[in-house]
Amino acid sequence: MNLNKNTQKGLYIKNFGCQMNIYDGERMQEMLEPLNYKTLENSDNADLIILNTCHIREKATEKIYSELGRIKKNNKKNGNNATIAVAGCVAQAEGKELVKRAPMIDLVFGPLTYHRLPEILQNFDNSNIKKRKAIIDIEPPINDKFNVLPKRVSDKNRNNVSALLSVQEGCDKFCTFCVVPYTRGIETSRSCEQIIDEAKQLISSGVKEIILLGQNVNAWTGKNSNEKDMDFSDLINKLSLLDIDRIRFTTSHPRDMNEKLIKSFSEIEKLQPYLHLPIQSGSDRVLKNMNRNYSTSEYIDIIDQLKIEKPDIAISGDFIVGFPGETEEDFIMTKRIVDRIGYAHAYSFKYSPRPGTPAAEMENQIKEDVKSRRLIELQKTIKKNMFNYNKKFMNKTLKVLIERKINSEGIYSGRSPFLQSVHFQSEESNIGKILDIKITKVKENSLFGEIN
Ligand code: 5AD
Ligand code: SF4
Repeated sequence: MNLNKNTQKGLYIKNFGCQMNIYDGERMQEMLEPLNYKTLENSDNADLIILNTCHIREKATEKIYSELGRIKKNNKKNGNNATIAVAGCVAQAEGKELVKRAPMIDLVFGPLTYHRLPEILQNFDNSNIKKRKAIIDIEPPINDKFNVLPKRVSDKNRNNVSALLSVQEGCDKFCTFCVVPYTRGIETSRSCEQIIDEAKQLISSGVKEIILLGQNVNAWTGKNSNEKDMDFSDLINKLSLLDIDRIRFTTSHPRDMNEKLIKSFSEIEKLQPYLHLPIQSGSDRVLKNMNRNYSTSEYIDIIDQLKIEKPDIAISGDFIVGFPGETEEDFIMTKRIVDRIGYAHAYSFKYSPRPGTPAAEMENQIKEDVKSRRLIELQKTIKKNMFNYNKKFMNKTLKVLIERKINSEGIYSGRSPFLQSVHFQSEESNIGKILDIKITKVKENSLFGEIN
């Protein structure tokens, strides 16, 4: 590919899956901008199409192939000769198998190698569509990608009010259903110094809220400038001294919760009262088979302690239904724990067997129709809890960080401290401000109100 800096090129990135992928997608954009790539809304006129993939469930993988099919058809129709890249966790897990199955793929790189993208593009010759030879670069690098990535600057393709900041990657927990330990590698923490540096860059670009990211973000460990050990709550404390309004983090593991982190919710004012703490199942037997390493009563204890520190804290979770061997009684216990915790928000999934993981080999796989029925029932219970949680805020005033305009009638949206999406009439100049919004209507997924 000719990287002549005078010719502008179109870039289309489609992100699948979690916020870690959104973060990686943003960093790819930032890296390609100096090479004259402009981000496009769709792939029609793109010179480079990147599918930033997710491997967590089978459906997620299948989506990539249908997306590739759509791109192929579209490119044929438009006579487009775009370079097609597959990034993310599917790329990491499947490598050259991807190109075997879909020869239209030109580049394959993973979450640990995308910082080499400029070099990969330079080595790729797309001049002859028939003779193109795919480049596969998924070997973990010697150099740390974060040392190579460019500085964070204000970017119209990014949410400049609330920004993601990756602090930890990988996972060693080996839950029996999960592919992450095989795709994102072992648990590694970025250095405190590097995180503070990136946070400062984001703040200078106008960011008001930072969301710290990691597969097991609360397992973060590091050292301060005096070489003293730090844990995750020390990191939040340090970040809270910067000129930032709000701090959040996701995703946490119950095993890595401790008293100090729980207390941070009342002691660090900038830390928002919302915690995503997946339990996965309400049955101790299932949790054991999942290798989650905690019991339901230990989980409940954590939540009860959190509610002592911050009574109205919003708790969010992830659930899997239809894990191998899950009985009707196990499932009923899952619904019960949703009511016991009173989740403000939760994601729920049908168990999806992933090749190479222990649970995929377990006997007693649950039939698809049972999984589907359980998912519908669980989602009903979750929705009821979300609505009950939101109802408490009717006629109350919430401090909302205004993020964006959502329609031409002057409706804007922002987030409450509890991460509820709040909609109200406002104006452009309020973006980035924290305003008092009186809540006049509540739904299970969002709140509506007016500036107080
Ligand atoms: N099947 C279904 N859901 C899964 N998750 C992880 N692996 C699987 C799987 N094999 C869910 C878990 C996790 C969330 C990110 O995805 O609930 O917390
Ligand atoms: Fe997967 Fe479990 Fe690690 Fe979460 S803690 S990323 S579910 S292995």
